[in-house]
Amino acid sequence: MRLENYQMIQGDVLTHRGHSYEEMAQTYQTPLYIFDETSFIDRVEGYREGLKSTKFESEVLYASKALLTKEIARLIAKLDIGQDVVSAGEIYAGMAGGVDAGRMYFHGNNKTNDELVYALQQGVGTIVVDNHQEAGRINEIAGSVASDFKQKVLLRVNPGVEAHTHEYIVTATNDSKFGENIHDPEINNYIESMMAMENLNFVGFHSHIGSQIFDQESFLKASHALIDFAKTVKEDLGMKITELNFGGGFGVYYTEADTPFDVVEYLPKFVKEIEVSIEEAGLPIEKISIEPGRSLVNASGSTLYRVGDLKGTLSGKEYAFVDGGMTDNIRPALYQAEYEGAIVNKITEESTTTYTIAGKACESGDKIIEGIELPQAETGDLLLVNGTGAYNFSMASNYNYIPRPAMVHVTDDAVKLTVKRDTFEDLVNNQL
Ligand code: LLP
Repeated sequence: MRLENYQMIQGDVLTHRGHSYEEMAQTYQTPLYIFDETSFIDRVEGYREGLKSTKFESEVLYASKALLTKEIARLIAKLDIGQDVVSAGEIYAGMAGGVDAGRMYFHGNNKTNDELVYALQQGVGTIVVDNHQEAGRINEIAGSVASDFKQKVLLRVNPGVEAHTHEYIVTATNDSKFGENIHDPEINNYIESMMAMENLNFVGFHSHIGSQIFDQESFLKASHALIDFAKTVKEDLGMKITELNFGGGFGVYYTEADTPFDVVEYLPKFVKEIEVSIEEAGLPIEKISIEPGRSLVNASGSTLYRVGDLKGTLSGKEYAFVDGGMTDNIRPALYQAEYEGAIVNKITEESTTTYTIAGKACESGDKIIEGIELPQAETGDLLLVNGTGAYNFSMASNYNYIPRPAMVHVTDDAVKLTVKRDTFEDLVNNQL
């Protein structure tokens, strides 16, 4: 397993900033989500600095679908970045940690009227309109707040740029459910009608082409396509476009097969290119934003499991069972995602055996890692899986009535509980 800079080998065990995994396991039990707060803060600051422009305001919007807890929201608020939300629940959870609703961008296809009313009541700053029908609904709801109230909105457009990633997380194909396609012959009509809506302050466009993307070219191509599109809209329809949001999707390292680029290094280059194209296009842009989720949190997260039974199959497969699985990390089952792991108490031992790490859920697909080389595993070992900060906690379930794990935040000084483990009572709490 590739170690993160907060993980080190001390004696013959792996530690997290000097904190013992065994102690964490004993204090908080396993499985346990472990989040390295310092590396997250550093990354946020790097992104914020990297996106700065002398030409316009720039804002990093954390795509909180990747990982949102009250404590993460507190950090978002403290670090002075915005929040990309996709449901009323995410608005609520962000505010519960102190994020100012005015700094939120509300995304999603098929936001319900109830969610839109809630968003307006809370003062959500920007709504990213998914389609022309939704624009009409937002206009109506905004008009019912006050006849002269104008809700700030962007329109999500699909630039039709291909991004090479898993089909479930591509969002800019011509049959995508997200946004309005820039090649749709009706697009100008949709935009014109939005411009005429009395209770919308329609300031610009958004695009997001997909997630876990390694290719800088795809981002640049999509960004240029967005700017070109905005230029055409300005020329054809006379729209004053003051804001563009370029989405998220920067790829991260899970295994050696992944080749992410350094986003902090990339951003200043990106900003320069954007500045030039915007100027050439003659657009009166006042603000740009990006929406990274995975790349801000993934490497800060890991999951600690206790190894239970070991089982060899007739076909020669060696299973090491862990006390979690698809309920805390659905990604291998859903996207064939791959992870690296290590036995923290055998970190200096030689790998001798090829294991399949399987969870405890009643499902054959409940595997966390297939074919990992490890030292001889024994019941009671602690297995750590890295790169679980994004889309693990946020996609966790209670399948088989398995309680979702606790989460701790780690700094040099402390290990702090931020999410309690589900109790059995929690599991039936809503049931009458
Ligand atoms: N902005 C929009 C409009 C999005 O739809 C997404 C992700 C993001 C930003 C953030 O993308 P990121 O920087 O995290 O790649 N559950 C899947 C990922 C789904 C991504 C959905 N949208 C997974 O586990 O891989």
